[in-house]
Amino acid sequence: MTVAVITVSDRASAGQYEDRSGPAVEQEVLSRYPSAQVRRLVVPDEPTRITAALEQSSDADFILTTGGTGVSPRDVTPETTRAFCDRELPGVAETLRAESLKETANAMLSRGYAGLRGTCIVVNFPGSVAAVRLCMKVIGPIMEHAVAMTRGQGH
Ligand code: MTE
Repeated sequence: MTVAVITVSDRASAGQYEDRSGPAVEQEVLSRYPSAQVRRLVVPDEPTRITAALEQSSDADFILTTGGTGVSPRDVTPETTRAFCDRELPGVAETLRAESLKETANAMLSRGYAGLRGTCIVVNFPGSVAAVRLCMKVIGPIMEHAVAMTRGQGH
């Protein structure tokens, strides 16, 4: 399984802030799938830069983004991801929000999207370390099966 992790953050990409959520996603993936190949990118909250990172990562089985899903003026990760995808995967986004709501009411403020571009599954996580750890616990169990299905393998 190949996983591309994209941190979307103006401050992290400018080096003003240490990216902690991207490494946390990587750590969670590797703890569940030790043989996974994980690569990471950090980009600012700019649609063109996010799209370029998504394009560059589209050969992966999964693209997991973190950050830019909220309601601040620069949060554009969901719209940019939706424009990049050719199919929707609403159950994943709905489940991440539902499970996150059990931890914090602020989960309502995450507009995270999930979809597919070809056989690549793209999922937006919020930007906090706590959020990505929870989100990985939620989608971790279905990742392997999802990859098999996108490759056209039966049950
Ligand atoms: N979901 C979980 N599980 N844990 C969290 O701490 N933070 C929320 C929400 N979802 C959070 C969460 C907050 S405070 C915000 S503002 C939104 O995600 C959007 O976060 P983002 O803009 O960093 O993507």
